[in-house]
Amino acid sequence: MKKYAIIGFGGLGKMHLSNMVKLEKERGDFKLAAICGTTLEEATKSVQINLGTVDLSGVDFSSCNFYQDYKEMINKEKLDFVLSVLPTYLHEEVAIYCLEHGVHVLSEKPMALTLESCERMLKAADKSGKELMIGQCLRFNPIFKKIKEYVDTECFGKVYRAEFTRLSQTPLWTWQNWILDPTQSGGCILDMHVHDVDLINWLFGLPNSLRSTLTERKVKQESVFTQYFYDDFFVTAQADWSMPQTFPFTARCRINFEHAVVTVEDNKLTVYEDRESYFPEISTESDLIEEERAFLELVIDKKTCDITSAQSVYNSVMLALTEVESAKQNKVIAIKKSK
Ligand SMILES: NC(=O)c1ccc[n+]([C@@H]2O[C@H](COP(=O)([O-])OP(=O)(O)OC[C@H]3O[C@@H](n4cnc5c(N)ncnc54)[C@H](O)[C@@H]3O)[C@@H](O)[C@H]2O)c1
Repeated sequence: MKKYAIIGFGGLGKMHLSNMVKLEKERGDFKLAAICGTTLEEATKSVQINLGTVDLSGVDFSSCNFYQDYKEMINKEKLDFVLSVLPTYLHEEVAIYCLEHGVHVLSEKPMALTLESCERMLKAADKSGKELMIGQCLRFNPIFKKIKEYVDTECFGKVYRAEFTRLSQTPLWTWQNWILDPTQSGGCILDMHVHDVDLINWLFGLPNSLRSTLTERKVKQESVFTQYFYDDFFVTAQADWSMPQTFPFTARCRINFEHAVVTVEDNKLTVYEDRESYFPEISTESDLIEEERAFLELVIDKKTCDITSAQSVYNSVMLALTEVESAKQNKVIAIKKSK
């Protein structure tokens, strides 16, 4: 029986646990041994996050040990893997410590705040021989897997334009408000827009160059607009997390292929062709649970994961940081494609 722990038990840590409880029942070959960063009393409180309400009142914590110090936990518990669901400024330090102690890591997005941090994480994973998966969950979303199939097979012809939009209320729900400090979260670009950056990188590969504009009105780095230039098409993406608290979270995209236009709105995929439009049949499983399932297959079943790698997610961080630079320098920046 494999043993795992969750480090960081805020909104998303709780969401991960509620999925892992389902997967524990589904597979029966791993169990929760410990949680770091909370107490039993706090752990059972429901939370409301942008992905929905998490209610852990029915979870059995009787064989779970609680810690406040992750190093103590790693040294005491004989863990096979951890889910690191910490504020972004802690991703590097915790992933490296766990890898160096022989523990596989699923670390939340974004990979880290700087490319140097990402490089150190990649090196630690290489050296340890343990797995490091980064939770860029949209790659596991059944809708985007379908779109990836459309892009790769060219069943609707080639892509000639694409547009991505992501809008959120100002995020006021995190522990000590770390998310609103760009030195801790990377701001709207690395925290929220990185989902679209990662999709663009995954679906279309690295662009030749990009051009970004950033705005700051209520909070630092609150909105971004970027054009990504490819050989024979371009993509645009915008993100803004300065919306009023009543504004519904919005994520949508449109991809124009030669013979069809594909849209995603409210997590619903529509294909528009000249003669008809339709909703392809797609699994309604959440991206997060699909990501956790793939991680378990990677670390327990030793199956390879062809959807993501820490190296390809590194490129998404590189693109996001280039966007900040482009906005600062007010110019188009070429993308180095060596990684
Ligand atoms: N994939 C997604 O769609 C998605 C959605 C939300 C958040 N996230 C990512 O998940 C991570 C966590 O975000 P969140 O919204 O849960 O934040 P949060 O502030 O709600 O939770 C962070 C938790 O970490 C705990 N913590 C802080 N320092 C710690 C330490 N040294 N040891 C142990 N625990 C510590 C805090 O007490 C808090 O409970 C971030 O990297 C964020 O980008 C991803």
